[in-house]
Amino acid sequence: MSDEPILKAEAVSKYFKVQGRTLRAVERVSFELGAGQTLGLVGESGSGKSTLGRVVLRLLEADEGKVVFQGQDLAKLSGRELRLRRRDMQIIFQDPLASLNPRMTVGAAIEDAMVVQKIGGSAAERRQRTRELLERVGLPVSAAEAYPFELSGGQQQRVGIARALSVGPKLVVCDEPISALDVSVQVQIIELLRELQKELGITYIFISHNLGVVQLLSDTVLVLYLGEVVERASAEGLFQRPAHPYTQALMRSVLKVPEAAEKRVPLVALPGEIPSPLSPPAGCPYHPRCPLAADRCRVEKPELRMVSDGHMAACHFAEEAAIGGVNGAAAFGASPELAASS
Ligand SMILES: Nc1ncnc2c1ncn2[C@@H]1O[C@H](COP(=O)(O)OP(=O)(O)O)[C@@H](O)[C@H]1O
Ligand SMILES: [Mg+2]
Repeated sequence: MSDEPILKAEAVSKYFKVQGRTLRAVERVSFELGAGQTLGLVGESGSGKSTLGRVVLRLLEADEGKVVFQGQDLAKLSGRELRLRRRDMQIIFQDPLASLNPRMTVGAAIEDAMVVQKIGGSAAERRQRTRELLERVGLPVSAAEAYPFELSGGQQQRVGIARALSVGPKLVVCDEPISALDVSVQVQIIELLRELQKELGITYIFISHNLGVVQLLSDTVLVLYLGEVVERASAEGLFQRPAHPYTQALMRSVLKVPEAAEKRVPLVALPGEIPSPLSPPAGCPYHPRCPLAADRCRVEKPELRMVSDGHMAACHFAEEAAIGGVNGAAAFGASPELAASS
């Protein structure tokens, strides 16, 4: 085993052309991820999380920067090589139903994933492996005969997980895998993802707009705002000492999951609106919403810089924010149900 990270992103950018203008969906994002670890991506809707997840898997081509997976620059792979590489890199979506073929039984869908990757041996062996996978993700073997629409949302997501696992991936991008599910089911799916990681040593990129959920699962967390990393820290460091006012606002806005369900409020209700990514504010992109914004913030864009050991933030006042701002740990509690399973 080497200490070389399994995945490296170096100044990755992705732009979209929208009405003749350039939308900077992801801008100069860098990170390193060790095997068996989880990188959390958090930020409000539109902050570039899904785009980054797709660029990392080369489901979208980066416009700038580089993604290195197991020492290999993914941009250098031919179409055929990339298809083979997909065995090692899978994705789980928010809406499992949309990603499943409605006319295929669950069993056929999982077997098909193996056929596409030319693995799993004979048809009989694939069928056997499918049964094992269904059981592993907590579904009855009889689910193989069911059609996706006959299953509950949680069961559909279990199928999505089984299908991703069927090819034996090393890296799985989980793109808001629990956001569409009921609270009690969210807890079960998180627990399942955790067990699978422990058993199989899978590396995760875990995407959510819910900071509480991200922190429970992640080793390292990137906080994205308008496509850029505004804070990067260990999950623990972020929880104890959020340094960016945006992260602090995210923390304050995260209610405990059951509490939010009871009150029927969205889990993220931040003050102010996200500016249009087509015309991001000058200076610090967060300044129009920031309680600490000063003249300097309106003109000078803060670079991502080290504010304490291994903890980076892009804020001119990160130190002051960390001391004088909200105390994240006190203001914020993860769901006791979720925390209890850690
Ligand atoms: N295919 C696309 N064409 C144009 N704009 C896009 C496309 N995909 C995403 N975007 C824009 O890129 C930004 C980031 O989107 P996305 O990565 O989906 O954010 P998130 O997953 O954090 O909600 C948004 O402003 C979104 O509207
Ligand atoms: Mg998304």
